Amino acid sequence: MPAELRGAELRAADLRRAFADDVRDYLQRRPRQLPSKYFYDALGSSLFEAICLLPWYRITRAESALLERHAREMLEPLKRPLTLAELGCGSGDKLALLATRASERFQSIQLVDISPAALYAARRRVETLRAGPVVLHPATYEQGLTELARVRREGAMLVLFLGSNLGNFDPGPAREMLTRIRAALQPGDALLLGTDLVKPERELLLAYDDPLQVTAAFNRNLLRRINDELGGTFDLDGFAHRAVWNATESRIEMHLASPRAQQVQVAAAGLVIDFAAGDTIWTESSHKYEATHVVAEGHAAGFGSADQWIDTGARFALTRFSA
Ligand code: TRP
Repeated sequence: MPAELRGAELRAADLRRAFADDVRDYLQRRPRQLPSKYFYDALGSSLFEAICLLPWYRITRAESALLERHAREMLEPLKRPLTLAELGCGSGDKLALLATRASERFQSIQLVDISPAALYAARRRVETLRAGPVVLHPATYEQGLTELARVRREGAMLVLFLGSNLGNFDPGPAREMLTRIRAALQPGDALLLGTDLVKPERELLLAYDDPLQVTAAFNRNLLRRINDELGGTFDLDGFAHRAVWNATESRIEMHLASPRAQQVQVAAAGLVIDFAAGDTIWTESSHKYEATHVVAEGHAAGFGSADQWIDTGARFALTRFSA
């Protein structure tokens, strides 16, 4: 077997081990949880792309429109040659939009995503632009940031952290994440941060519990993944998608609820879990912000000046922070 393939197999084994360890740890917590990074296998990434097209989920369209309209203004103050990097690029569509509107050549385009399937799709999308060499990093945000600091060349780097992905962290870890991004940057670099803003509860619930049940499929796919990759015995019809607005914490919470008592095993994690009727697994939070709060968080993480572009209809903000 060629050496690279042996390396790839080892990494696959390590990833599966880490997945099993996290499933064992988080499913035994109270309340029971699963880390949201495991949503994004090939099927999960495709379901997420479908969510982005739902009429009730406005984040992607609002953010894309802001990027398209203000691309040049957003990139204008940065020193050339410019390196563009995105943490959690998914399909790469938003970065492609920004690069197309900017119509310039970049030093390099660095794509970080936990899902190899998403990364390959993003590379195909971004390479058609011929806007600079494209480099892929199949990695978590943390590993990706280490890579970005390592591949850094002269000129400035703009890091994109879009889609209100910051909101999927609790407040403490969100601030740590911003601090980590800041630490990977150098003076003259910048962060472009996309955050969803507080809006009426009815709109929020429809965005995270859509009538076509694509979001429900996305959430339940995590259990399907555990069954397939870790020898789980989750009954996929035995868990229901729930989205709840927690006004005190200003966040949507996504859960998988067990309407009846049931036992589930996960062989690779050595787990046997008894769910009581009404027990839930908390799979994701999506925090919603005030625009001024976003700026304050960036400053608390050590960033300098901030410029903001807001879609007042969809209530979504893009904020550029200088490092
Ligand atoms: N960052 C996205 C958000 O908070 C992620 C997301 C969208 C999501 N829809 C979801 C996560 C449904 C879990 C379930 O909006």
